Amino acid sequence: MKLIEVKTYEELSEIAANIIAAQVILKPDCVLGLATGSTPVGTYKKLAEKNKAGIIDFSAVKTVNLDEYEGLEGTHDQSYRYFMNKNLFDNINIDKKNTYVPNGCAADLEKEGKEYDELIKSLGGIDIQLLGIGVDGHIGFNEPDDFFTAATHPVVLDPSTIEANARFFASADDVPRKAITMGMMSIMQAKKILMVANGKNKFDILKASIEGPVDPKVPASILQLHPDVTVIYSEV
Ligand code: F6R
Repeated sequence: MKLIEVKTYEELSEIAANIIAAQVILKPDCVLGLATGSTPVGTYKKLAEKNKAGIIDFSAVKTVNLDEYEGLEGTHDQSYRYFMNKNLFDNINIDKKNTYVPNGCAADLEKEGKEYDELIKSLGGIDIQLLGIGVDGHIGFNEPDDFFTAATHPVVLDPSTIEANARFFASADDVPRKAITMGMMSIMQAKKILMVANGKNKFDILKASIEGPVDPKVPASILQLHPDVTVIYSEV
């Protein structure tokens, strides 16, 4: 694992955007694995700026997102589809038909998960997967558990995740209790992984993930087994 520690969120965002931009320049039809949450917002802003400046072209890029809340349509302002449109896809020259987010409204989420993994396979796998990390160590919505789950699957969110994400909703009661998340197989099969984390509250879990034992109670610790992981951390 390569750890890059920087002083500011601005620097974190610039480095992360440069790494993703390099991938797009080297392989214009690459598959980007994308994340939501507050941490990648700055990275997406910088990618949009680079696109406007003519430095990167998204016209042949495909994207697959990590997760989606159960029961939220893409038009709901807290759905991850909505987030991606607003923070990235509406601001770059990507064809939205090439952007995929799991469907949290599918009647059968197990089936949706299987189809999502098939889709990722049919795209040729993920070239670079962007990840954030939850305060409980989750990646995507793979919450602490007794085992790692390979396939894209429905999950019950941890109380700590509901509390952390309540800031985006009117109240904690409005946060969906369930979601669908890419499992560890598609994440670990990505050719490269880029994790971004900022804030003092992420330091301990990041340290446990990088230095502690590989343990499904700390889901991000599985990344120690991946050959090409870059983690960018800023305290503020
Ligand atoms: C969201 C996701 C989550 C977030 C994590 C950190 O797609 O995959 O694992 O990355 O909850 O969220 P923020 O960045 O809001 O602290």
